[in-house]
Amino acid sequence: MRPMGRQLTSFASARRMSTDLLLICLVESIASFALWPCGSTQTKNLLTSPSSVPPPRHQPGITTGFGVHSSTRATLSMTVAPSADTVIKRFTFERAWYPVMPISYAETDRPNAFTLLGRRMVLWRSADGWACVEDACPHRLAPLSTGRVKSDGNLMCRFHGWEFAGDGKCAKIPNASPEASASLCGSPETAATRFPVRDDGGLLWVWPESGDAGFANSLLSSPAVDPNASKFEWIMTIPPVSYESMVENSMDPSHAPHLHEGTFAASEMVRLEEYEVASDIEPQGYLLKHGGYTQKNVGMDASRRFTAPSFVHVEYKLPSGKKQDFQLYFTPSTPFETRVMTNLQAPQLPAWLPARGLLTDLFHAFFLTRKGLWRFSDQDRLVMQGQDQTQSEDPHRAQLAWDIVSPSDTGVSTFRRWLERVGGGPFSASNPTFVPTKEEENRWNVHGKHCPSCRRTLKLVDRLQKQFGKLSAASAAVAAVLAIRGALSRAIIATAISILMQGASMSMERGRRSFFGLERELWVPQVYAK
Ligand code: FES
Ligand SMILES: [Fe+2]
Repeated sequence: MRPMGRQLTSFASARRMSTDLLLICLVESIASFALWPCGSTQTKNLLTSPSSVPPPRHQPGITTGFGVHSSTRATLSMTVAPSADTVIKRFTFERAWYPVMPISYAETDRPNAFTLLGRRMVLWRSADGWACVEDACPHRLAPLSTGRVKSDGNLMCRFHGWEFAGDGKCAKIPNASPEASASLCGSPETAATRFPVRDDGGLLWVWPESGDAGFANSLLSSPAVDPNASKFEWIMTIPPVSYESMVENSMDPSHAPHLHEGTFAASEMVRLEEYEVASDIEPQGYLLKHGGYTQKNVGMDASRRFTAPSFVHVEYKLPSGKKQDFQLYFTPSTPFETRVMTNLQAPQLPAWLPARGLLTDLFHAFFLTRKGLWRFSDQDRLVMQGQDQTQSEDPHRAQLAWDIVSPSDTGVSTFRRWLERVGGGPFSASNPTFVPTKEEENRWNVHGKHCPSCRRTLKLVDRLQKQFGKLSAASAAVAAVLAIRGALSRAIIATAISILMQGASMSMERGRRSFFGLERELWVPQVYAK
């Protein structure tokens, strides 16, 4: 690795560089899927034998949620009893803790639906704490996420009113007599399928293996929680992008100067020649180290630690001595959807500020997500969705980078080696071809509808738009009356107020649309804009 304290380049003064680095750090922390990885120090021959090529994505065999290959079934049946060897020395996607949402995003008075490894589940706050069951009522398979949380903490199905306690057991069947209800609810068949859930580090974690084996196995493993996580402010996005593309992207820093025009420029690129695998590639993860990749961070020592299956922890030691770290979680939701949780690290408004909560929401909605997250994420999604589409048309097509064309490919290649080590990705190859729609990738579906802050701001914008519209109409009416009565100067003032209110209403409408818009056209390099 390059030594720390390397002299700054002649392209910028030390002061300017420090400012730029702070900007990069902020943008990196808020760009849910835009952290850039490292590569090995050796360039390999492209004509590698096929046997050395890592497995295709969605390789059949190790799969969860979309059908289990026979060999996997055999493995599962052999390891139903909890075994330290199974959990600690091996890795299967079904036996791991996954963060599924920040606690700040979870509603306490209603069910929270989500999908993990292709399984629809629902979380709610029961009398015994957070509980998680399959999003299907055992009575007639109605989605429990459309039900409601009762004051006693039971989750009630909306179809016929069955109720479930936090342990998943049926608590009440309204159409049965109290005696029959108690008797029926004693049967395991009337219980909802329950999954282990934990609340740790500001995130809600779910273990996607149900039954006694799932609960026993979950006790042998701990969620990958950062020691400082209690101080973090988590932001979640759910882009229509595969888990594999997301994790690879987080380990591929050399794309930043080329793709992230606006924050970087291709002319700032520094060749990423120092990228090494700094640990064994274990089922539980690995460590990568690399140097700088732009003139703004040349000379830094960076590391990227992947802790299976979700956690990527990035640390930068900059030549100035400043240290910065970033935490990203990638939770596979469906073959082409990933739940991404990032420690936002946004500047906090001072505590004494009046209406601080409101201002924080506005800052989040109109500055952070627009100027930072969306430019980066749209640029990344543009590429990753294209990768997913081509890859889904031919799941066995290998990318050259998987075998390292240049040292900067080391991060991508190492993740592929890890996939090979654990037997393939979380989903099977039998998925349909991926074709994202504009709706799937718009701002509301990717982030806003999941985010309490954005939802609050949208409600406020809606209210203000209506009020400004009403004030505009009322002022226009007053202006007309005044004009009829000959009070022309006052009529002019009322007309001006009406125009002002109309302008405010229109500006609220523009703000409202930005919650649903697709920012791609605004942020991608012009050559890609449609
Ligand atoms: S389907 Fe849930 S109560 Fe009937
Ligand atoms: Fe938000």
